[in-house]
Amino acid sequence: MKLVIIGTGYVGLITGACFAEFGYQTVCIDKDENRVKDLNNSKCPFFEPGVDALLDKHLKKTKLLSFSNSLSKSIKDADIIFITVGTPSKRIEGEADLSFVWDVAEEISNSISKYCIVVTKSTVPVGTTKEVKNIILKKIDEKDFDVVSNPEFLREGSAINDFMRPDRVVIGCENKKSEDIMKELYRPLYLLETPIISTTVESAEIIKYASNSFLATKISFINQVADLCEKVGADVQDVAKGMGIDKRIGSKFLHAGPGYGGSCFPKDVKAFIKTAQKHDVDMSILSSVDAFNEERVNQITKNFISKANLKKGDQISLLGLSFKPNTDDVRDSTSLKIAKLLQDKGIVIKSYDPEAMGNAKKENTKIQLCNSAYEACIDTKAIIIGTEWNEFRALDFLKIQESSKNLVIFDLRNIYNAKEITNLGFQYFGTGK
Ligand code: UDX
Repeated sequence: MKLVIIGTGYVGLITGACFAEFGYQTVCIDKDENRVKDLNNSKCPFFEPGVDALLDKHLKKTKLLSFSNSLSKSIKDADIIFITVGTPSKRIEGEADLSFVWDVAEEISNSISKYCIVVTKSTVPVGTTKEVKNIILKKIDEKDFDVVSNPEFLREGSAINDFMRPDRVVIGCENKKSEDIMKELYRPLYLLETPIISTTVESAEIIKYASNSFLATKISFINQVADLCEKVGADVQDVAKGMGIDKRIGSKFLHAGPGYGGSCFPKDVKAFIKTAQKHDVDMSILSSVDAFNEERVNQITKNFISKANLKKGDQISLLGLSFKPNTDDVRDSTSLKIAKLLQDKGIVIKSYDPEAMGNAKKENTKIQLCNSAYEACIDTKAIIIGTEWNEFRALDFLKIQESSKNLVIFDLRNIYNAKEITNLGFQYFGTGK
């Protein structure tokens, strides 16, 4: 099978590299010529564990993978075409911006020359895949193509693993022919007995939004429980453990923290609310999940300033700038939001992040970037652990103590044990502790 992946962002690049790993001839398309050039030299434009090796292997050794910026040429003999372009939030009301999807659908309709399947893999609101079909139908007869919804469930930082060992593959099809071809495509996962969920196009589109929205709901829920735990002297990690053992609840995504960020949850939650509003459906649970999450960074920052008794001109350390560990992505990063709020109060920020400092600098030029966590902790009044990178999990606090006095530690991700830290003479605040 010959595959064409349109859009080489997080989803498209991982999808292309992993399909090449399955043994398929795969061409990834991007409009950005510089990006295509870098990728053909195995240079991945973002940090994602394992991608470089996969690119190297399939660009040079197996030659199953290539990058191009000419869509029409590559589509000629394609069997399956994946649309993996961005669907960012529109500025104002959080609706998904589908302009890149429509443009690509248009270009595809000008280039199809034999039966093929057009797959929406980008996260798209219900109804989008049918809309793509209508655009292509203007130029191509309906017997010469089919559309499929095949949403992805990749987490940044573990995207390759999530592709190679998914909990499920979701395929939304309109007929048996396209369903059989998609099942054939994912045959390499049969060996792992990966469940293939075959459903309608609309249901597949909703599964994606409903899954991300439910995970975001779990996070806002445990964060509200964390706030209650702080008030009554309970421990939210014990509460989460006691809840998560119940298989109906599950232990994942019950880690209290500063709220969810990243390029997916915030945007997908808002888009799903928008879709419900458009169809006059009450999605008020999700609206409160979103509102609570938006407000959380303000609460945390206010709390931090008062507990650490910070004043204009004080200097603090912020460890971790990416929105989560094992990525250099700072989109909707709670750490960067907290940094901005503190800087607005005249507080100076020294920061370190293993991978995301380059991207962070572009968003916030005022943050003082350091070469290590220890350097970031020199001569500061308080430390915020914003992202739970592994290298922050065993800091030598005695060494930190030498370079700073009366330190307050805000462990937003609860990676430390309160007693150990207070025994060293620090003030310690966890989340929900
Ligand atoms: C998410 C979904 O997990 C993935 O299936 C989908 O395809 C894309 O969106 P991602 O955004 O990469 O993946 O990160 P994820 O690991 O889900 O974390 C999202 C946010 O939630 C991060 O800000 C993280 O810090 C936060 N989070 C996650 C919590 O605060 N608590 C948790 O228990 C888990």
